[in-house]
Amino acid sequence: MVSRRELLWGAGATALAGGGFAGGVLAAASAQRQGPAQMTMDIQSATASILDTPTTGLVSLSPDRPPPVIRLRQGEKFSADVVNTHGEPTAMHWHGLRVPNAMDGVPYLTQYPIQSGETFRYEFMSDDAGTYWYHPHCLTMEQMARGLTGILVVDEARDPGFDADLSLNLRDFRLNGKGEFIKLWEPRQAARGGTLGTVMTANWRQQELLDAPTGGIARLRVVATDVTRIYRLWLEGADGRVIAWDGHPLRTPIPWPSREEPLLLAAGQRAEFSVAMPETEGEEVRVMTMRAHQPHEIAKVRAVGANLARPLSEAPELPANPVPQPDLANAQVEEFVFGWSPEDAKPNYGLCGSVGYTFWSINRRPYEGDATPGLAPIATLQYGKSYIFRLRNESPNDHPVHLHGLTFVPLRSDKKPVRSNWTDTALLDSGETMDIAFVASNPGNWAFHCHIIEHQKTGLAGYIRIE
Ligand code: C2O
Ligand code: CU
Repeated sequence: MVSRRELLWGAGATALAGGGFAGGVLAAASAQRQGPAQMTMDIQSATASILDTPTTGLVSLSPDRPPPVIRLRQGEKFSADVVNTHGEPTAMHWHGLRVPNAMDGVPYLTQYPIQSGETFRYEFMSDDAGTYWYHPHCLTMEQMARGLTGILVVDEARDPGFDADLSLNLRDFRLNGKGEFIKLWEPRQAARGGTLGTVMTANWRQQELLDAPTGGIARLRVVATDVTRIYRLWLEGADGRVIAWDGHPLRTPIPWPSREEPLLLAAGQRAEFSVAMPETEGEEVRVMTMRAHQPHEIAKVRAVGANLARPLSEAPELPANPVPQPDLANAQVEEFVFGWSPEDAKPNYGLCGSVGYTFWSINRRPYEGDATPGLAPIATLQYGKSYIFRLRNESPNDHPVHLHGLTFVPLRSDKKPVRSNWTDTALLDSGETMDIAFVASNPGNWAFHCHIIEHQKTGLAGYIRIE
């Protein structure tokens, strides 16, 4: 028996030589299937005014707008044809969703890169409601830094009853004063905390303005889709509650953030707020973050219409998602250390682009690259068993560590109190050791990497196998 992985890597070599053979086969196979109503995501170049003048060289799903908020409903089939008219290979990943492995969008590990002119059909269903996002996993730095990061909302099977449902896609762009892209990242920053953008945006605007009913309760979804930045967030001008973290309703409360104690939202993470809108029409709630050590208003929500006078005590409750609870007493412990790369390895990223440097590693092993034949997992887990991953960051930088296909819970840390909220991306502070736990409930090969994309692409990546 040939495993799916060997099949992919074996044929992948042919694809490299033959130019798109593999993707063509997959596209042809999916074209014969009669699917449900579906959407098309057409990856293309875009132009939009992020500063006062148009910025060209953006990547999006339309010629002039940010990637849209995609909505699906919990428990219902979703289908998207990702059409690549952009000219460079790509692959789409659904960050935080527990999808079947073949739909996870990781080149060579779960599919071939989607080459220019090709289409790949993604089909899955999400058991979990909440706030997730989508981004490419091939030429990841180039395409994400140029705009291709979008919010994905899975609506609860039953509408919880907010008066507004708002989303903020937080990310930077690296532009000069004329609105032109500058170098997307700097090697010397990649070897440290990562390269920050020059222009901070929400939904591609420097000052986003949203509306919600006066005196109503708004649900505000905030998603950090930046390639690097760790946001320090709070809201001014309203009372509210943090209601969900990384897609899932809270199990442990998170205090309402303030300037003194902001909420840290690292690259890849999401927070949801219930916001009691002001009772006077025209008043605004300000979404704040620190920028260069100064408070910065990144968006506001304006009260519009008649006063609904709905008290915060009436805020809707979110139903829990069906995430399996790990059996801690019988969990197996696996250790991982995140640190420097021991040598200057030459990774093989195939069609998906090497950045030409190696700085980082997991378990002293820098990532060999997406297209390395026979690439071994950094751990092999048994389907259905519970695991504790001991994550040790021996580097002087912070790393938001992301695990595909699974939802885990932080258990403890040697540096800070942790909250037992379900997540897929844990922020490891410099020098920190954190235990996380989960059930190996989703079979397949799951990417495991830092979500500071420069770190991911310079070695801090790998995958685990559940079989
Ligand atoms: Cu958003 Cu591999 O990740
Ligand atoms: Cu990192």
